[in-house]
Amino acid sequence: ITPRTRWLFLNSPSNPSGAAYSAAQLQPITEVLLRHPAVWVLADDIYEHILYDGLAFATAVAVEPRLRERTLTVNGVSKAYAMTGWRLGYGAGPKELIAAMAVVQSQSTSCPSSISQAAAIEALTGPQAVVAERCLLFQARRDFVVTALNRTPGLRCRTPEGAFYTFASCAGVLGRVTPSGKLLLTDSDFCDHLLQDFDVAVVPGSVFGLAPYFRISYATSMAQLEEACGRIHAACKALF
Ligand SMILES: Cc1ncc(COP(=O)(O)O)c(C=O)c1O
Repeated sequence: ITPRTRWLFLNSPSNPSGAAYSAAQLQPITEVLLRHPAVWVLADDIYEHILYDGLAFATAVAVEPRLRERTLTVNGVSKAYAMTGWRLGYGAGPKELIAAMAVVQSQSTSCPSSISQAAAIEALTGPQAVVAERCLLFQARRDFVVTALNRTPGLRCRTPEGAFYTFASCAGVLGRVTPSGKLLLTDSDFCDHLLQDFDVAVVPGSVFGLAPYFRISYATSMAQLEEACGRIHAACKALF
């Protein structure tokens, strides 16, 4: 935090790491924020309902209500309701901020389509059992992918608390040469190798600011994940 700092972005559970903060872990962060009244908080709570192992969702303003007048909470239907393509998100925050956002938004796009708005209301106010059911399915996929990655030579993966991503280290494969003669120096080299030679799409950690890692999204079927993890295993095994 410097005199020029305006916002702290908090995204828990997180894309790309899947890590989630508990209320106890957020508390010291809120204490720092109380000492810096010029810094606003943007809480991106989009993965609120995708949390595993019985963990309770926590967000900064609930932990420290004094942050309320400078917190913008954003959320949407993309994740919990698998409505990514409907382009519907929403925010809650101080009146003046929301009014300023409306000024910007109303002149750049007209509005989310009325069809999306109706569908989002239905998602948010309809029966919610499906959200927990899907979360259990995600948890099984997480467990499968993390186990598969940790059994793969050169890879290491911590168990994420939420969202639907793994963020594994590929440090162990760097410096290795592929059977076709490519030297893997960076996480991007490794991801390119998986894409070009094994048709598996993952995202290098360096694009999120942390190398040498790579992100897998497990928002797909178990059959696809089994196939993909099998190919990743074969790719890594061939490096040793
Ligand atoms: C951290 C985070 N916030 C918000 C979103 C929501 O995206 P959208 O509403 O544009 O689908 C995503 C989707 O990838 C995300 O990962």
